[in-house]
Amino acid sequence: MMRFICLLVLFVGLHFKADAAPPPLASLFGGGFSLVDQDNQVRTDKDFRGQYMLIYFGYTFCPDVCPTSLGILADSYDALDKSVKDRIQPLFISLDPARDTPAVIKPYVKAFHPDFIGLTGTVAQLKEATKAYRVHWRKFVPEGSDPEKDYAVDHSSLTYLIGPDGNFLTLFPHGSRQEFMVSTINKYLSENK
Ligand code: NI
Repeated sequence: MMRFICLLVLFVGLHFKADAAPPPLASLFGGGFSLVDQDNQVRTDKDFRGQYMLIYFGYTFCPDVCPTSLGILADSYDALDKSVKDRIQPLFISLDPARDTPAVIKPYVKAFHPDFIGLTGTVAQLKEATKAYRVHWRKFVPEGSDPEKDYAVDHSSLTYLIGPDGNFLTLFPHGSRQEFMVSTINKYLSENK
């Protein structure tokens, strides 16, 4: 039991360590990706030109961090006026392609919001996407666990707002509240009618 608690602390600690980075320059984030969606369709960043994107990286087996973040993202998205909401596509990108097949991702993202699109890809495709967004991620196998089935994926927990031209606009640190997300999203979208 003690070992489990220690590992849990380590896991949560790593999550927050990654989140503690100072706000970086806009030019450091964003870029191309080519992934597959929850319906097995290839999706690239170019498919979403003309729309704003809210992007979150995680994995469906995440015990706490992803569900919390995706819940706040869904609530924030729903709190926007319809005219604003219609210009935004929220995306969840799974960093656990071995377990998060499209069939697993689909009910997961739709449970948070029917408008969400879930994506994943090969490890090479995910390396490209995470490099572009500077996402820290690492498979973490607790001692004595099955490395194929019973593992965690340590990952940074940030939500990115990307503009209709594909350029990075801002990011929301882990724990950002709904009111802050809604006002920030409204600010960016009102500047670009
Ligand atoms: Ni997570």
